[in-house]
Formats: sequence, C-alpha cells, structure tokens
Amino acid sequence: MALRDSFGRVATDLRISLTDRCNLRCTYCMPADGLAWLPGAEMLTDAEVVRLARIAVTRLGVNEIRLTGGEPTVRPGLVDLVAQLAMLRPRVQLSMTTNGTSLARFAAALRVAGLDRVNVSLDTLRADRYLAMTHRDRLADVCAGLAAAATAGLAPVKVNAVLLRDVNDDEAPSLLRWCLERGYALRFIEQMPLDPQHSWDRGVMVTGAEILARLRSEFTVTALPGRGSAPAELFAVDDGPGTVGVIGSVTAPFCAACDRVRLTADGQLRSCLFADTETNLRTPMRAGADDADLAHLWAAAVRGKRAGHGVNGPDFAQPSRPMSAIGG
Ligand code: 5AD
Ligand code: SF4
Repeated sequence: MALRDSFGRVATDLRISLTDRCNLRCTYCMPADGLAWLPGAEMLTDAEVVRLARIAVTRLGVNEIRLTGGEPTVRPGLVDLVAQLAMLRPRVQLSMTTNGTSLARFAAALRVAGLDRVNVSLDTLRADRYLAMTHRDRLADVCAGLAAAATAGLAPVKVNAVLLRDVNDDEAPSLLRWCLERGYALRFIEQMPLDPQHSWDRGVMVTGAEILARLRSEFTVTALPGRGSAPAELFAVDDGPGTVGVIGSVTAPFCAACDRVRLTADGQLRSCLFADTETNLRTPMRAGADDADLAHLWAAAVRGKRAGHGVNGPDFAQPSRPMSAIGG
C-alpha cells in the first residue's frame, strides 16, 4: 500500500518530530520564555516511534526518515532511537534537522548509530546577531558542531538559513562564502507563516528572488536543472563545483511535487506543514490497534492531503500548531 493522495502524489519521506522543545529561542519560532510544551504523557515513547516508523517502512513505502523537533538532540536517548530506526528494513535514508548546538557532542555517536546526514540551521555568522536572533550565545558551538558533523561523515552537511529583513539579510554572500570554504551545502529558506507570535508579514519576507540578487553582488549564480521533488532550486556558484539552494516555500511553492508526511511528537499525522487537520495515531495505538489498522488510518490521512499550502490564497489561515511542534 503506497501513501498516495487524490492528486497522485506519493509520500515516501516521513518527518518525525521527536520533541517540541528546544534549547534555542529563534525569534521567528519561539517566544523568549518558550511555549507550553506537550505533556509528557502524550509524547510518543521510543518504542511507539519505532513501531510507527516500522509500519511506514514495511507497509507504506516510506524510504526516507528525517528527525526533527523542536530540537531533536534534546530528546533523551536520541542515539539509541536512531540506532533502532537504522535497523529497520528495507533500510531508509536517515537524516536529522538540528540547530547544531549539540553536534560536537553527538555527531560521531549518531553516525555510528546509523544517521546518514544532517541539516544544520544557521542564520548568521555574527555572534552578537546569533545571540539576538536565538537568545542564546551558542554560535561557536554550532560552528564546532558543523565541523564535527563533517568529520563524522554525516555528508553532505547541509546548512539552512532564514533571512529576516533588516536583521541578517545582508549576510547572504558571507554565509555562502563561509559554507563553500568548508564544503557545506547552503540553502536559504523563505520565511513561512508558522511563528507562534503571528508576526509573519509577506511584505517584510525576504524573497528567493531577493536572496539571489544579493548573492549576485558577489558571485556568479547559475540555475541548475532538475529540481524534482526537492524543494530547493539549486544554483551553481562561480561555475561550480559549489552550489547554493534557494527554497522559495512561499513565492515558488513545491507542493505539486511534495512527497512528505509528518508525524508530531505526540503522535499526530499531518499531511502538510500547513494542514488544518491532524490524524491521531497515538490514541488508537494505545487502545490496541494493530499494525494493519494503523496503516489504514495513515493511508486515509494522506489520501485527504490538500493540493497546496494555500499561503498565497485569500482564505489562508496559519495552522494552530507552531513550527516547533510540527517539525521542519
Ligand atoms: N519559515 C521558514 N523556516 C523556518 N524554520 C523555522 N521556522 C521557519 C519559518 N517560519 C526553519 C529553521 C530550521 C528549520 C527547522 O526550519 O530555521 O532551519
Ligand atoms: Fe529551536 Fe529550530 Fe525553533 Fe530555532 S527554529 S527555536 S533552533 S526549533
């Protein structure tokens, strides 16, 4: 049984949020004093995460699993959970989106456990700005974490950057130069309306076109063909081999090629980041549903996936769950 929706798209990429908590407070993601965290009793246990992942892999055609948060490394027992997911057969591509602050400590162990790749979030290279943007003085730890990821072979090491107008939008070229020098694959992501403070403003958002224009002040940037289902449009920098990605989630949505489905830390399936409905797998699972029952619920949830995120439509309403409780 494949996770096919009514538009013919097939979900093969499962994103599992392991926690809604985070050790940073990025201004566009979390208020300085945090959010109301999910209650512990509602969080999936490791065994429950592994069971649902096994159902996805063995019955539903999922071939890639990305671990997200919040910040996945704040979940106790992460390395062991990764090891269990890496043992699923058929073997999946296993990656993690992290803020990188703990990678110096965890990268080697995660690699040994079977993690294939990491995406590290880094929006600025200036320590004063990093502190202002995340409310934590951790830039040096992120840089050390990136180096540790590369040394451990979590390759290719990708860096995700969100630019905010008049905050860090002048750093596009310097971020790119820094990443190219170190062999990291940088991708810029347009800011999406997912912040709990509901402060997103289309007019203030730094667009993909604008990011490219800023890069072109210092580099030759040439579009590469073959975006496929990947959200990033890839560009060769100064005739290669270095590249840069631009993820135009808002101005160039990739919904028509979307192959993702998401599981929250409390066991809710979301067919889209922006979905206004969720399918509760935790409750039936804890009430004794068998694997076939859960697979059917899962397939039905994906069948109802909407055509697109609707951010550009007149009726758009931001989802009630913030990004940190959905996963990137
Ligand atoms: N729009 C775009 N990207 C976001 N991220 C968090 N919130 C948003 C948003 N509203 C990014 C983080 C991180 C990844 C998990 O998603 O910077 O790279
Ligand atoms: Fe934490 Fe990521 Fe949100 Fe920043 S964007 S506060 S690193 S979950």
